[in-house]
Amino acid sequence: MGHAEPQVSTSLQSFWMPFSPNKEFKADPRLVARAEGMYFYTPDGRALIDASAGLFCVAAGHCRKEIAEAVYRQLQTLDFTAPFLRGHSKSFELAERVATFTPAGLNRIFFVNSGSEAVDTAMKMALMFHRVRGQPQRQLFVSRERAYHGVNMGGVALAGMVNNRRAFGPGLPGVYHMRHTALPQNKFVKGQPEHGADLADDLQRMCNLYGGENIAACFVEPTAGSFGCLPPPQGYLNRLRQICDDNGILLVFDEVITGWGRMGANFGAQAFGVTPDLLLMAKAITNGAQPMGAVAAKQGIYDAITDAGPKQGIEFFHGYTYSAHPASCAAGLAMMDIFRDDRLIERAAALSPYFIDAIHTLADAPGVVDIRSVGLMAAVEVAAVGGPGARGHELQKKLYDIGLHLKSTGDSLIIAPPLVAERRHVDEIVDKVRQALKA
Ligand SMILES: Cc1ncc(COP(=O)(O)O)c(C=O)c1O
Repeated sequence: MGHAEPQVSTSLQSFWMPFSPNKEFKADPRLVARAEGMYFYTPDGRALIDASAGLFCVAAGHCRKEIAEAVYRQLQTLDFTAPFLRGHSKSFELAERVATFTPAGLNRIFFVNSGSEAVDTAMKMALMFHRVRGQPQRQLFVSRERAYHGVNMGGVALAGMVNNRRAFGPGLPGVYHMRHTALPQNKFVKGQPEHGADLADDLQRMCNLYGGENIAACFVEPTAGSFGCLPPPQGYLNRLRQICDDNGILLVFDEVITGWGRMGANFGAQAFGVTPDLLLMAKAITNGAQPMGAVAAKQGIYDAITDAGPKQGIEFFHGYTYSAHPASCAAGLAMMDIFRDDRLIERAAALSPYFIDAIHTLADAPGVVDIRSVGLMAAVEVAAVGGPGARGHELQKKLYDIGLHLKSTGDSLIIAPPLVAERRHVDEIVDKVRQALKA
């Protein structure tokens, strides 16, 4: 299927690549030139199966014509309008469509441009909500070790991954971390592990130590994604919900990865049966074709903030130049049609048992020390060799040469294919990962 593309002739030096080993990459680049369906193609035409939906974005498979055409039409009709004090119909329409997927009650949708922006927006919403309700002292936040909440300073403070924090100081003060849930007895468990619900009591301990009345919100990924797929222990999220309710704390689910079908339901909230107060999303909302994120807020939070504002004038001093950008809204609306017409979420749920069983066959592959999985996401963790992350990094390069793209973190290979994947694609991914582990 692949066809030859010209090699890049330009210098690679000017572009400062994000989250990448710049010097190493530029000395030995691994480029992609185009993509279609389940595959990327290298400049010399080799196919790479996409085992991580790009970066958990491309739920509907690559280069969907419906989205490309919708964006093209939009840019010829209304390329941009100020999102402050002006509106365009697609932003309202997309918010209505998104709210048909979110849990009941989370029906007020604030658009941003990325997951990181969704995180910092939600922190500000939480602070604002408590302030207008006469509790301005609620300024502390709780998150969890091994969490990833993007790269803006709020997200850095919430982050539970050392490399994302250590160079940047404390970020915001007043952020405390619960322990992670990766217990030794949960190794190689399929789906939600049995052990660890009691770790949610760390939140109660924070309340006891700092005063529950001082905590604004507790942020968690329903399943930690970027760290390497840590599904919540059974009962863990319910326990967090209870402690938040008991102490007047907002529960925030960061569903930037777990949203839009990845967990086998619309959102992790529905997959795990626990409803947060704020739900963050990005990535698959536009199939990754345009930058967009969103915060879905409970109507009560929106009402409290907007009712407290002046009769005329701005209620929430927050927003981005590109919030609800017309091209992103057009892409999002086209994607909503694809979710409906291609029954993407039902497909993910149907493929999940096959996917999980197939990934767990890698348990006997060389160096594998754990496999975690839920929905259409799994992590295969290999023993560290030559320092943490070194083996994962080498594997990452080898996989490109073998013909597979995936996201790795440290020594975990994270497998989360587009929701349009079929069994044969899962088999190909498993074969190629095994090949790389054996090499
Ligand atoms: C849970 C979570 N939150 C936030 C983010 C940040 O999203 P972005 O890279 O779009 O800023 C990510 C990115 O992977 C994520 O996984």
